[in-house]
Amino acid sequence: MNKYITTPIYYPNDKPHVGHAATTIVCDVLKKSFTLQGYKVKTSTGLDEHGQKMQTILDSLGGQAMKKSYLDGKTAEFTSLFARLGIDYDIFIKTTDANHIENVTNILQKFYDEGKFFKKNSEGMYCVGCEQFKQKDDLDENGCCPDHKTKPVYYSEENWYFKLDNSREWLLDLLGKENFINDPYKKEMINLVKDGIPDLCISRPIERVWHGIPLPFDKKYVTYVWFDALINYITAIGFDCKKEKQSIEFNNYWNNSIHLLAKDIVKPHSIFWTIMLHELGVNAPKHEFIHGYLVGEGGVKMSKSLGNGVDPNKLVDIFGCDAIRWTLTKIINKNDAELSYKSVFDIFNNDLANTIGNGFFRMYTLAQKTFDGGAIPKANFSAAQKAHLKAVCESLKNILPAGTHIDQTSMYAKNVLEQFRNLNLFIDQEKPWTISDITQKQQSLLCILEHTAMLFNITYPIMPGTSKYVLDLLGEKFDGNEKLELTPWGLPVGVVLKPAVPLFQRKKEDEISQIK
Ligand code: MSP
Repeated sequence: MNKYITTPIYYPNDKPHVGHAATTIVCDVLKKSFTLQGYKVKTSTGLDEHGQKMQTILDSLGGQAMKKSYLDGKTAEFTSLFARLGIDYDIFIKTTDANHIENVTNILQKFYDEGKFFKKNSEGMYCVGCEQFKQKDDLDENGCCPDHKTKPVYYSEENWYFKLDNSREWLLDLLGKENFINDPYKKEMINLVKDGIPDLCISRPIERVWHGIPLPFDKKYVTYVWFDALINYITAIGFDCKKEKQSIEFNNYWNNSIHLLAKDIVKPHSIFWTIMLHELGVNAPKHEFIHGYLVGEGGVKMSKSLGNGVDPNKLVDIFGCDAIRWTLTKIINKNDAELSYKSVFDIFNNDLANTIGNGFFRMYTLAQKTFDGGAIPKANFSAAQKAHLKAVCESLKNILPAGTHIDQTSMYAKNVLEQFRNLNLFIDQEKPWTISDITQKQQSLLCILEHTAMLFNITYPIMPGTSKYVLDLLGEKFDGNEKLELTPWGLPVGVVLKPAVPLFQRKKEDEISQIK
């Protein structure tokens, strides 16, 4: 069976944000988890290079060469951050890619030919930050966009529109389905559409916005950035609107697709996009997983002026890739989650240094000294040890996320942590360092290492580097590319335990307080 997981395509109008890292990490954790459950998985991410927001930046940059070098530089910033975070996506798509432009153009022409678009004069308040028209109710008490804290700009112009309300009943049905979209956003969206859906303006006059895909049927306009950007999800896996039937490959992935996104962009995904697909005769994605924002301490929005932003590259510099993957997987869920350098520091010391890293290193170094020639002995476990390992194996069966709800990845990290706590309790019960009989001591340590190996197999999707390191030390060949068949024991006999370094060294408070 196949699975297709997408992230939003990000606006490269600034440095990559820690929120971009968060959604993309969750996507990668799901990918690796599904792979271990035997699925064939594809993931896509990328950049949304069109629209007015991007145009403002490009306009300030002078000639074509400068614009190109800006965009190339941004691509490098995003892809190098994702590489540093151990994210292996299958597709990196940009809205300026030729095949995407062709796809969008064909879909626009098809909709036009089918009479789905009409022209009318329109006026409204437009937030360039959101690239969306705003109703009064969308604004705060000062008349500003609550996300961007700027006043929307008034526009009055003739534009092309797409009627959405014809699909209202169909959409209400979809939104009401179990696990299509998670609460609290499900309720919000149902309330938003139940009394009617306003027509969607799908064009921008070229004299205002030049940086977009021209409407093939009216060259005085480019298409609205969201109409363009949303189509990336199907372009990425080979949709071709000129074909009567899509490929089996496309259908297999698309019919098992998950869109990951934060709450800022629920409306374009659950209303505009679903209706666009419906009109195109393509199924809706299977799930839209909506997570909350990462916010600063006290739930305050991260902002440059408050200085409570967290730079994802700096996080990797200080804590390393796996620690950031761990932290973000644990905290991202349907609600907002607080993040600061201090909170990562606390999670690092508590979860990683104390609970996960410490037990392993102590037992591994003791085993090196205790095993004959430092080599893994043949298992000869007591009935109690066998029962223990079987029970551990059983308890890990349903721990990987099933992929039906956004909160499952966070739950998964918390369950993994619980498993390591149980391992530590087991170590404290066994107390191998107190056992005087050498054979018994060796078997006790081997049992602990078998238990540890199982836990690192299951931790791989969140912390691939650390898991591989540990499993390699224990002689297990593991690359995470196929279905995981957990067995209660089976470490390779005779493998000599190599020298190791501690997994996560506790950080000191003053290392963190100096971060600027
Ligand atoms: N280009 C559009 C998306 C088009 S998708 C067809 C866009 N880009 S964005 O750069 O603004 O990215 C928004 C997404 O980035 C969020 O939905 C989320 O995935 C991630 N995050 C950016 N900041 C965030 C937080 N503060 N917290 C959590 N994630 C957020 O919208």
